[in-house]
Amino acid sequence: MKELLIAIDGPAGSGKSSVAQLVAKKLKLNYLDTGAMYRAVGIYLHSKNLSPSDDLSKALDEIEFFYNSGDLYLNGEKLKEQIRTAQAGKLASDFAVNPLVRLKLTEIQRNICKGGRFVVDGRDIGTVVLPNAQVKIFLTASFEERVRRRLKELCHKGVDLTFEEVAEQIRLRDEQDSKRSLAPLRPAEDAIVIDTTDKSIEEVVQEICDIVLRRMNCENDRC
Ligand code: CDP
Repeated sequence: MKELLIAIDGPAGSGKSSVAQLVAKKLKLNYLDTGAMYRAVGIYLHSKNLSPSDDLSKALDEIEFFYNSGDLYLNGEKLKEQIRTAQAGKLASDFAVNPLVRLKLTEIQRNICKGGRFVVDGRDIGTVVLPNAQVKIFLTASFEERVRRRLKELCHKGVDLTFEEVAEQIRLRDEQDSKRSLAPLRPAEDAIVIDTTDKSIEEVVQEICDIVLRRMNCENDRC
């Protein structure tokens, strides 16, 4: 079957991961969560007592990722729920400014997707990792809504934080991700921007599936 790549980018709490997983399921495509890779690498480098400004080349050489039907393994170990903590999110964002980290993960992500049929979510998929993706989506939502969503998610996990505390975490991450010089968070020029503030996950998933199917039919008809 022909390669099909769908990039879904957006800030924390925009609904990317839930939406991307459901789109992949509905269209019978593979799903790659690049944020999970940055989180796992952040935890790994931190556990080696390294910080983002250190020379990371040797540590990065030791890192190998393996992808199998949606599951990711770092050096043979399957990524677990621990990567979903706020601390892991901060470590991911801190190490994600380092050019060698980005270079390494970009190369691995491209290799995983090569020739395949994938929905890939992240921050720089449409702009840097897969500039030739057939469909590029950029999800946004108001700041308050994104904080509310993250708060709800944390509450389900039994993490007790106030609205203000979560707002501060998201504000800092937005700022760091948008202002970094390499691969900052921004929509690709040819991305379709969808504001999800007043939309349900199902509505957004349907909207994206419709866009993909239209694009594919169009390609088949050469229109
Ligand atoms: O789930 P959430 O949107 O909060 O974050 P994530 O997608 O798991 O990504 C965690 C962090 O990894 C982000 O804040 C980015 O700093 C970094 N990241 C990146 O730089 N490039 C990507 N393609 C994906 C994540």
